[in-house]
Amino acid sequence: MMAAVPGSGSGDHSQTVANHYNKLEESGLEQRSRSRIFYLRNFNNWIKSVLIARTLEKLRVKDSQRTISVLDLCSGKGGDLLKWKKGKIDNLVCADIAATSVEQSEIRYNDNRQREGNRLYKAEFIVADCTKERLKDKYKNPDQSFDLVSCQFSFHYCFESYSQALMMLRNASECLRVGGYFIGTTPNSNELIRRLRKSTDNSFGNEVYNISFSQKDKTNFPLFGAMYNFHLEGVVDCPEFLVYFPVLERLASLFGLKLVKKWSFSEFFKQNLTHKESLSLLSAMQALEPFPSVGGTEPMSANKDDYKCAHEFLSSLSESHTQDSRRPLKIGTLSQAEWDAATIYLVFVFEKVGDMSPSFAAAPDSQSHTSASLSANRSSAGDGNKPGS
Ligand SMILES: C[S@@+](CC[C@H](N)C(=O)[O-])C[C@H]1O[C@@H](n2cnc3c(N)ncnc32)[C@H](O)[C@@H]1O
Repeated sequence: MMAAVPGSGSGDHSQTVANHYNKLEESGLEQRSRSRIFYLRNFNNWIKSVLIARTLEKLRVKDSQRTISVLDLCSGKGGDLLKWKKGKIDNLVCADIAATSVEQSEIRYNDNRQREGNRLYKAEFIVADCTKERLKDKYKNPDQSFDLVSCQFSFHYCFESYSQALMMLRNASECLRVGGYFIGTTPNSNELIRRLRKSTDNSFGNEVYNISFSQKDKTNFPLFGAMYNFHLEGVVDCPEFLVYFPVLERLASLFGLKLVKKWSFSEFFKQNLTHKESLSLLSAMQALEPFPSVGGTEPMSANKDDYKCAHEFLSSLSESHTQDSRRPLKIGTLSQAEWDAATIYLVFVFEKVGDMSPSFAAAPDSQSHTSASLSANRSSAGDGNKPGS
């Protein structure tokens, strides 16, 4: 259960996180394709692409003529720049705490802009701690407004403390138009705690990811500052924080944001298999590993058990299909280890439905809201949806 206390963060981890991402080398296509998590990274990218494309679609259904402005919170090295281009948006603001990453993404954008000219959206790049600084004060245009705010694989950093969560939500909502969306991907604390409780010590994982909690108690977690270390093969090695979703929903409502839907990655994947464009994107992005492997290539995992599900599924298909020996059946899969890493995450979509609560509009980082909001959390914690329960 999540205990209703303000947080037990033992210090400020933002700088550690920034240093980690600043040091991360950009790997080329050749290097990425040799990585053990090549398909997992493509799969995660597919999830983001589908989420972004489908949300832009929804915005255009509301108004097909509108120009679209986007805020990419914790935008990193610009991994989504191409997605914004494909989505034909008009303006983009990227903000991230890691100065080197912001610089790299700006170079990438400028190269693209040279090739594409005015066909490419306009963009602005900001180095900022989105959990501590008010972005509205940094936009070139003081009247900046957004139709879409996206925070991919990063929202969890703000649950280090209550005031950081408030600032992140303020940044997400403050310039978002009513009817606009706040979308993202973040670890699912229910799933993390479920796996933690199954483990014999304070960590769990496999050859591609590892999560270790610093606290020994597997029953009570603070609402903020519930820290664990996340390691993803060659990409991430950082402190992260549990995001207890009912608290996020409650805090988001103070900023005029209402949850439209959240899905586990597994649910989101299955749901979008019936959507034609998303399905074809799956193969275009090489988001799944061909099984059995093609052209004499080795499977991603040397462990046969990693393909047990794929093997069983293929056998069941073989039974129901007449086989053409010249064209043996092939399916797409992820090795079990990569699937286990992918299914830690969830996808969320909030809609801006009204104004921010006046007290938050006036005092973004005030601790004076702590008791009011936490007592609100206590009542929402009784919704039977506690992580790991
Ligand atoms: C896993 S990367 C995701 C990058 C990008 N959103 C993507 O999907 O490719 C996490 C990003 O969050 C950024 N980040 C972490 N804490 C932050 C903070 N407090 N303020 C702004 N950015 C932060 C990191 O610098 C890093 O670029």
